[in-house]
Amino acid sequence: MNGRFPAIRPRRTRSATWIRNLARETSVTAHDFIQPLFVVEGEGIRKPIPSLPGVDHLSIDRVVETARAAYDLGIPALALFPVIASNLKDPEGKLAIDPDGLIPRCVRAVKKAVPDIGIMCDVALDPYTDHGHDGLFIDGDVANDATLAVLVKQAEVLAEAGSDMVSPSDMMDGRVGAIRDMLESRGFVNTMILSYAVKYASVFYGPFRSALGSASALGVKGKHSYQMDISNKREAIKEVLLDVAEGADMVMVKPGMPYLDVISAVREVVDVPVVAYQVSGEYAMLAAGAAAGAFDFMRVMHESMVCFKRAGADAILTYAALQLARELA
Ligand code: PBG
Repeated sequence: MNGRFPAIRPRRTRSATWIRNLARETSVTAHDFIQPLFVVEGEGIRKPIPSLPGVDHLSIDRVVETARAAYDLGIPALALFPVIASNLKDPEGKLAIDPDGLIPRCVRAVKKAVPDIGIMCDVALDPYTDHGHDGLFIDGDVANDATLAVLVKQAEVLAEAGSDMVSPSDMMDGRVGAIRDMLESRGFVNTMILSYAVKYASVFYGPFRSALGSASALGVKGKHSYQMDISNKREAIKEVLLDVAEGADMVMVKPGMPYLDVISAVREVVDVPVVAYQVSGEYAMLAAGAAAGAFDFMRVMHESMVCFKRAGADAILTYAALQLARELA
């Protein structure tokens, strides 16, 4: 008999639900998700974000409610992002290091009400700076080493408030090591660093920046002098290896679905958990497609989650985490 057909028929293991269930290589559960939330000052606020249909600005009391719901659905962790009024932003992003700032207060409230849900907080200045950059802008560029000192202080404030993970998303060189040294010396030995190790200068962040009100200030220069060139993959390996060596407990690749090749390559070279971020532009794109009748939103979201897992991600930040977890329950 020449060739392998008909002895070999791949369709046999796809022929019924029971065998598909047995043969499946990848599965998705609520335990795979981190839910990002946008926090605002005030009380009783749940205000839709126009650029992200289905996602809201939440006041701290609403974040606490949402944390409880997320925990009950099996979502392991939340990522908290502050929305700061433009009149409170300044060139140094001073509110980022305020121990009684919006995020530290929110972390304390969630940890008190729902102690067993994990909390991750971004370390970066962009929500707090009037120029919208992630660090201190000096002589026409973001200054690396001067920014490190502020980021370390911000990470300290977040760890002090009870954040389980601090997540530098700023792409300064050396920040993971600097934050790790601070955490060790201050006795925060169990605070994890989930590093945005591979973060590209992507246009897919558009809806997030408009949700934070940090888009318009950036100008044409953008964040290209610190976020990675979208064309590079070898550089992604260099970045993750550096961050792991500096003490990152987990590494992230961002954006997500257009960068599955990068997730897969990173998975091959590190032994720490790899997290993918399905960013705001990806969410908005799928929501727009669903609204135009191209596909069902929950089904396309579920498929995208399977794709992340298949590519090698251990966990995924997605704005649809709660919706997906409800669907899976
Ligand atoms: C800020 C930060 C950004 C995102 C997460 N943290 C935006 C940026 O770097 O401009 C993007 C998230 C998203 O688009 O969903 N450092």
